[in-house]
Amino acid sequence: MTTAARILSQFQATGVQTCFHDRHINPQIYVGLNGNNWSIKDYEARGGYQALRRILGKDGEEGLTQDQVIATVKESGLRGRGGAGFPTGLKWSFMPRSFPGQKYLVCNSDEGEPGTCKDRDILQFNPHIVIEGMIIAAYAMGISVGYNYIHGEIFQTYERFEAALEEARAAGYLGDNILGSSFSFQLHAAHGFGAYICGEETALLESLEGKKGQPRFKPPFPASFGLYGKPTTINNTETFAAVPWIIRNGGAAYLECGKPNNGGTKIFSVSGDVEKPGNYEVPLGTPFAKLLELAGGVRKGRQLKAVIPGGSSAPVLPASVIMECTMDYDSIAKAGSMLGSGAVIVMDDSRSMVESLLRLSYFYSHESCGQCTPCREGTGWMWRVIDRIQHGQGREGDLDLLNSVADNIQGRTICALGDAAAMPVRAMIKHFRPEFEALIRNKAPQAATSV
Ligand SMILES: Cc1cc2nc3c(=O)[nH]c(=O)nc-3n(C[C@H](O)[C@H](O)[C@H](O)COP(=O)(O)O)c2cc1C
Repeated sequence: MTTAARILSQFQATGVQTCFHDRHINPQIYVGLNGNNWSIKDYEARGGYQALRRILGKDGEEGLTQDQVIATVKESGLRGRGGAGFPTGLKWSFMPRSFPGQKYLVCNSDEGEPGTCKDRDILQFNPHIVIEGMIIAAYAMGISVGYNYIHGEIFQTYERFEAALEEARAAGYLGDNILGSSFSFQLHAAHGFGAYICGEETALLESLEGKKGQPRFKPPFPASFGLYGKPTTINNTETFAAVPWIIRNGGAAYLECGKPNNGGTKIFSVSGDVEKPGNYEVPLGTPFAKLLELAGGVRKGRQLKAVIPGGSSAPVLPASVIMECTMDYDSIAKAGSMLGSGAVIVMDDSRSMVESLLRLSYFYSHESCGQCTPCREGTGWMWRVIDRIQHGQGREGDLDLLNSVADNIQGRTICALGDAAAMPVRAMIKHFRPEFEALIRNKAPQAATSV
């Protein structure tokens, strides 16, 4: 069975769509995935490109102005799905529309956060929804050129997206004078360079320009100094994918799918110790327990120990805390973590937290771009200290040392990779300190890891 077929069968088995029909909403992001229909014909048959026709006034009704599109997205409560949860409509309103020169639109499909695997599925199984979302965004902000920066190692998905671009151009949805209007938009795919840091928006822009992917100082923000120094708006793949539904159904309807300040649905990539790992699209505000149930629950015979709720950068939460949470930005933040990119890493009672942290800290040490000293040196230092604890050579004071190194990284780097490396360390020690202390005290080396 191919990976795609396996994922498909998981989805069909979970009844994820039923969850939407119960609530009389149909966000459509995963319709292509469930139906295996990624061609433009199938997308159009289920309402695809109607939102674009609507804003351009191509179906008998008056079109929407740029301000009306942005107001609709603001009303929807859509928050960026790339990690920070920044309000999308607000971001779009920062674009200086009257800027006389070139402006750019960029889709961030780099998706390098461990645990996250939603964007590649959207592009693979429903590429036109992202294209339509980007065209609408370009229209709203008066942008004529866009790029989709796609994770460097997913060739099949890249080809699928390129084929969809060709279909959209042939149908008159992309290119000069779209559907006979005065609006033109050229959209291209670009291969990522295989580094986690290239997902950070300014490193991505550097990489797209053909340079080494290293973050820039902010400010200036991309809205004023972006690609090739021109005003640029960057959004995540899933963010753009939500836009056509919002335009077709209205901002209020989307907001209502979720909960106040957390509009709409979100795809959660559930991995780790569950029976049915996979991507699950549920309304924001869904109880964690319900999401866990969709994923088949914790592996048989095991108890839930901890969950990383938003990708490897998000602080871990113990079972007792996460079981009380709903899956939305505010609830997870209140519990002391982040919804991030929506990668839910489930750990059962067989997991060693020291070993888990060792793997995470190795990742960040490996992926630090090296530009800022606290991150370049600190991530490697944390990894080596955790490694010695794991292998029975921990010293008294190592946990204080780890917290101190994390303190000296967090908030002291150009980009948030430093924070992403520091937060898991502090959270693991905070919630599972006795496990670390037992290893330090007993000096009993754990089994070698495969990092
Ligand atoms: C180290 C690092 C890696 C990131 N990786 C991604 C990524 O793979 N995809 C993504 O959309 N955002 C990523 N981000 C967040 C982006 O910088 C940016 O906030 C996001 O693309 C904005 O889109 P949104 O507003 O739609 O969420 C990353 C941030 C950091 C600090």
